[in-house]
Amino acid sequence: MDSEALDRIATLISSRAGVISHVEDRNTLRHAVAGRMKALKLSHPNEYYLLLNSPGAEKEFERLLSLLMVGESYFFRDEGQFAALRDHTLPDIMRRRNGVKTIRIWSAGCATGEEPYSLAILMRETFGELPDWRVSVIGSDLNPDFLAKAEKGLYRPWSFRAMPEPLRQRYFTQRGEQFQLHDSIRRMVTFVQNDLFGGGYPDTARGLYGMDLILCRNVFIYYQPAAVELILGKLAATLAPDGYLLTAHSEISFIPAPGLVAKPLPDTVIYQRAVSGKGEMEATAVPQIAVPREHKAVIHAPAPPAKTPSPTPQPAPLDEARTRTWASLTAPAITSIWPRKPVRLPPSRTSWRRTWRWNRVTC
Ligand SMILES: C[S@@+](CC[C@H](N)C(=O)[O-])C[C@H]1O[C@@H](n2cnc3c(N)ncnc32)[C@H](O)[C@@H]1O
Repeated sequence: MDSEALDRIATLISSRAGVISHVEDRNTLRHAVAGRMKALKLSHPNEYYLLLNSPGAEKEFERLLSLLMVGESYFFRDEGQFAALRDHTLPDIMRRRNGVKTIRIWSAGCATGEEPYSLAILMRETFGELPDWRVSVIGSDLNPDFLAKAEKGLYRPWSFRAMPEPLRQRYFTQRGEQFQLHDSIRRMVTFVQNDLFGGGYPDTARGLYGMDLILCRNVFIYYQPAAVELILGKLAATLAPDGYLLTAHSEISFIPAPGLVAKPLPDTVIYQRAVSGKGEMEATAVPQIAVPREHKAVIHAPAPPAKTPSPTPQPAPLDEARTRTWASLTAPAITSIWPRKPVRLPPSRTSWRRTWRWNRVTC
């Protein structure tokens, strides 16, 4: 293929979409362009370049872009982050949202859906069915093919490589060599196509607003720093006041993120929308704690429900929890890391400490 034409297409992509176009990615680009030229019955990459550059070619541009992105994902990717969500972030959100009984979660750049479905399973496992709550989990991606696969909820064993086996058994039914997600979880998640870089959001019409929690992980790796900064600004604006943003480890290190405050949690850092007057550590060039990528080491389990009442029930001390690994906690003998009885929330606005007490009395 004409390498000058390919260079022009690469430059167009990086200037218009903020995508980093490494030399080593040229093969991927060449394949993607060849595929689109074949589909459109074009014979020379220059024709394709002109098409991409013409007005009204936004959809074709998105189509090409989506072919350059890898849709690699799997359930409960990064145990440490999911444990932090379960033990810290989600309980905090639930406590704050207990008055309105609504929680809004967005997995931005969700590929084939493993991430938003993991969040839905985490919610179900931790808080039960929540019949009087509105729990909304949205998954979005640039690539419509990934979203079509996500909607089916049918996965190969490789997608479960980090998921505790008891959870897979509880929420999936084997169909031949694949596993079908149960409808009770599928119904919790809706999928929308959205371009995080070029798309307009917050967008109330498509439900992209007022998020209590956004996960945008393993997406920024494709983008130039200025593009990451732009996306971060839009994500921050899509958060509810006090809402949280979780990225993959070190993904936004030293990228200015105005409006976001970095909050260290065990094994990860989460960003919280800064409400004026509350900023502790404005996330401009956010320092990261050193955590290995996709680490498998330690999770922090919630305290098991105590048999005898104690005056001030608290989560398990971190040092104690650190001695337990995800694998040991999910071994068949122990059955599950998850609380046997779902956490129940008190009937009205109240403090989290009272919630603990309330749970101890009622669960
Ligand atoms: C490596 S996957 C990460 C999936 C999931 N978040 C995870 O961590 O397992 C990256 C995904 O980001 C999507 N993506 C990249 N740029 C995007 C954009 N501008 N808008 C929406 N999605 C995008 C890709 O299509 C791909 O599915």
